[in-house]
Amino acid sequence: MAIEQGDVITTGKAKRLYATNDPELLWVQHLNQATALNGKRKAEIPEKAAYTNQISQLLFEFLNQAGIATHFVQRLSKTESLVQRLEMLPLEVVIRNYASGHFVSRFGVENMQVLEPNVLEFYFKSDALDDPFMNESQILALRLADTETLVQIQTVAHQINQHLKALFDEIDITLVDFKLEFGRTDAGQVILGDELSPDNMRLVDQSTGASLDKDIFRQNSGDLTIGYAQVLQRLQAKLGA
Ligand code: CDP
Repeated sequence: MAIEQGDVITTGKAKRLYATNDPELLWVQHLNQATALNGKRKAEIPEKAAYTNQISQLLFEFLNQAGIATHFVQRLSKTESLVQRLEMLPLEVVIRNYASGHFVSRFGVENMQVLEPNVLEFYFKSDALDDPFMNESQILALRLADTETLVQIQTVAHQINQHLKALFDEIDITLVDFKLEFGRTDAGQVILGDELSPDNMRLVDQSTGASLDKDIFRQNSGDLTIGYAQVLQRLQAKLGA
């Protein structure tokens, strides 16, 4: 069956979701938009969508090949992907290998301090509440996920970290931290959704120490697409894409 784009389901901060003629599949269009401070600062950035989408595609395919189930189904264009429809859990899962961002401001530690063992945090996904930090008992009490699902998410998040850390290391990039979102398929399986791009991870060039991610925009320190282009080029060369 040829996939046809349907109505807009929702427009987020950096992506627009469309229905398709297959109820199990969604059409994701990445947008040339960057936001910081939970959407309070916004900018239109030409070419950004092509970078976030293509980097996401490569990383999802890489994880799929490593045996980790993700929602990614097929490339549609430089800025669009076909994904499995998921019932998203209202949780953000953050893994940190080094201290940065909020971890530094919250705990008053040095930026880039090694975190050993690494840190896994949950946040409640709510723009209105500014995505507050959440612990496991809060998730269980509010029935956002059950114990079995939480254990599975944590196990898979750590596996994803091992795979991505090793991949980025091979292209001279340090994976500092990143955010994941999970959702449930119609069959009840909990798998990785959302996106995997420098919008949702901190990446540092090992030779120059430069940020190659959204920190360039957050800190107003230059052209974000120069960093994203570096990440895409190195991933394409490494993964033979
Ligand atoms: O990035 P920020 O300092 O606001 O928060 P953080 O908790 O230090 O972010 C940890 C990692 O999760 C970074 O790589 C962020 O880009 C990512 N993140 C995200 O993608 N979406 C959020 N709503 C919060 C964090």
